[in-house]
Amino acid sequence: MSSMTGNKIKISVFGQSHSKAIGVVIDGLPVGKKIDMEKVNSFMARRAPGKNSLSTQRKESDTPEILSGLVNNVTCGAPLCMVIYNENQHSADYNNIIDTPRPSHADYSAYIKHNGFNDVSGGGHFSGRLTAPLCFAGAVCMQILSEMGIEIQSHIQKIKNVYDDKIDYVDIGKWNTAEKDFPVINDEKGKLMIAEIEKARKNGDSVGGVIECAVTGIKAGFGEPMFDGIENQLAKNIFGIPAVKGIEFGNGFSATDLYGSENNDEFCIVDGEIRTRTNNSGGINGGITNGMPIVFRTAIKPTPSIFKEQNSISLKNMTEEKLQIKGRHDPCIVQRAVSVVEAVTAITLLDAIL
Ligand SMILES: Cc1cc2nc3c(=O)[nH]c(=O)nc-3n(C[C@H](O)[C@H](O)[C@H](O)COP(=O)(O)O)c2cc1C
Repeated sequence: MSSMTGNKIKISVFGQSHSKAIGVVIDGLPVGKKIDMEKVNSFMARRAPGKNSLSTQRKESDTPEILSGLVNNVTCGAPLCMVIYNENQHSADYNNIIDTPRPSHADYSAYIKHNGFNDVSGGGHFSGRLTAPLCFAGAVCMQILSEMGIEIQSHIQKIKNVYDDKIDYVDIGKWNTAEKDFPVINDEKGKLMIAEIEKARKNGDSVGGVIECAVTGIKAGFGEPMFDGIENQLAKNIFGIPAVKGIEFGNGFSATDLYGSENNDEFCIVDGEIRTRTNNSGGINGGITNGMPIVFRTAIKPTPSIFKEQNSISLKNMTEEKLQIKGRHDPCIVQRAVSVVEAVTAITLLDAIL
């Protein structure tokens, strides 16, 4: 079913932006695992809005309430159910959208699919708010992965046409981006990116970008061939994040510029272990991990809700109409989606490993 994913770790995300609550049920977690709730909360805070002018001033309390599955913060074998109550709804902001769908949001496609019964307020079930439960599930899975020596980090690789520093795919190192409001490796480049976002905001417009994620400490041999490879599983789940429009592994599309002799990752032995000299494959061959870091990039489109007047239509009258969007929207989603990409990566990899 659509809002569920996973084989060993099954997650089901529920709620709408303006329903009473949103949340997640996680089934299949290993039993007896102590979950550090302080770490969970600080991970979730990285996604929360209202931190600065770069993100919406919506005051969304992302405080998780655990309904089941933990006893004294230890997993007990029952499905872990978490809810976040919605408190700051401005549903009236969405009245004009009921008949006049926003370009490139899910209003029109969901209207057709659900015969007009879809909840439009705040984007309904298609809202970026639904990524808060994903972050909760990811934060839990990440702690279990961390015990296995697997670490996940990401940075904003680019906003519009401004790039962060290039990373070394073989020797990932530590980026410390989790501690930053604007998670880039090079803060000077970050300032230029922020200027792009501010420019878009002032023009009532929006911008997108790319998030680069690296996973270290993962051993060779995880993933299934053909349709259930790690690339397949990651891509399926990463596309569950609203506004994702692309994913590429290793050097991705740019591999097509190279000769095989330039692109192949030659084997070598380092400290008695089999490694590769380069990591253009992004740690995956044949859908199976090869022991090198997993590296992939996720393309996030510009926020569809912009304040510039746009062309739309009236569904009732079948006429062309002008649309002026109201409400509170991020001029750029990318900096908030960084932790979401990490969360979905953790959920996917724990599922694949178990
Ligand atoms: C963290 C996050 C926050 C988002 N906030 C907004 C927003 O404020 N306004 C908006 O129009 N879209 C926002 N989105 C994106 C929309 O939810 C998304 O574009 C829409 O559901 C259509 O899906 P698609 O872009 O995947 O086709 C957000 C996405 C994420 C991940």
